[in-house]
Amino acid sequence: TWSAVPAGPPDPILGITEAFKADKDPRRINLGVGAYRDEDGKPYVLNAVKKAEERISAAKLDKEYLPITGLPGFTSNAAKLAYGADSVPRNQNAIAVTQSISGTGALRIGGAFLARHYPHSKTIYVPSPTWGNHIPLFKDSGLEVKYYRYFDKKTVGLDFEGLKEDLQNAPEGSIVLLHACAHNPTGVDPTQSQWKDISDFVAEKKLFPFFDMAYQGFASGSTDRDAFAVRYFVSQGHQIALSQSFAKNMGLYGERVGAFSLTTANEEERKRVDSQLKIIVRPMYSNPPLHGAHIANTILSDPELYQEWEGEVKGMADRIINMRERLYQLLSNDFRTPGEWSHVKSQIGMFSFTGLNKEQCKVLAEKAHIYMTMDGRISMAGLNGRNIEYFAKSVDAAVRG
Ligand code: LMR
Repeated sequence: TWSAVPAGPPDPILGITEAFKADKDPRRINLGVGAYRDEDGKPYVLNAVKKAEERISAAKLDKEYLPITGLPGFTSNAAKLAYGADSVPRNQNAIAVTQSISGTGALRIGGAFLARHYPHSKTIYVPSPTWGNHIPLFKDSGLEVKYYRYFDKKTVGLDFEGLKEDLQNAPEGSIVLLHACAHNPTGVDPTQSQWKDISDFVAEKKLFPFFDMAYQGFASGSTDRDAFAVRYFVSQGHQIALSQSFAKNMGLYGERVGAFSLTTANEEERKRVDSQLKIIVRPMYSNPPLHGAHIANTILSDPELYQEWEGEVKGMADRIINMRERLYQLLSNDFRTPGEWSHVKSQIGMFSFTGLNKEQCKVLAEKAHIYMTMDGRISMAGLNGRNIEYFAKSVDAAVRG
């Protein structure tokens, strides 16, 4: 029956984890997937999460189904975290939110909703480059995917003029995907003043902004600061779609906790949109999982745990920033590796887009047991005091050839 099914390629990101696991060399380093590691290179369960789990266990909750759109306290608190306590549509009860299977699930619900109900276009413009999964995800949702320029290889920074030109040339009403903060894979974000310009020309061209916010808190260490673009767009009267993930900022990767939301004109419209979100979710997976949503909600609704969590997000962001500084020093000063490395310091979030080419990435995997995606992206969180020198030395060797 399946004799004609061709073998597919491994996933460009998760396939790296498989290759890493198969390598038994003690020096091996996994810088592929964006998952936080502590100073000992170990996965990190946040204290706020552990305490929330203790409370949940003590409360002896049942295991009944959640509603189709998830745990109401969680979705309400997730929207508050993203849009802010004083958000106008939030206070007007005009934000439709559904719990989702983390950020990917949120994007998928959003893609399906837009493909079915957005009246002006079926095309989504995504930055070049973007998170690899965005492309099949939106295609599978029934949208056509096109690109706008984003990254300038020469300056290793934002190609703002290219971005502007491409979005201004996009047909009126097109959907545009924007990374709210900590752009994946480049680590290059627009400045606040550039976001204001983007908001203006998105409004002029009547584009529909779909924000992917997978790293709130991870870019700057502050959840408010990282929500700037989302909140600014909403304050300017844009209606937006938003995908949120709690994988990175709460370290809830495998719990799959996220939310998808749409701002609407008023409460009556919100109710209609809500009803259609349910119609999309029910045949996909019926209703979302319980445990992770309880954890996130316990943290978001308790002032003490919330404060502890914010401190821990900042702690993770700060450790990554320290690693950037250290890597820059090693490459630039200690090893005098050919090339310019200041982008390692200026990029933000989980990743650094190193500029290493495919050949160099291959050499690093084969000779040094260092795994990263073939576009030269490294997860900064995989570096620590014990492996960073070995990493820098191996990069130096790969660059020198
Ligand atoms: C990544 O880009 O490494 C993360 O978003 C994890 C994933 O699912 O790809």
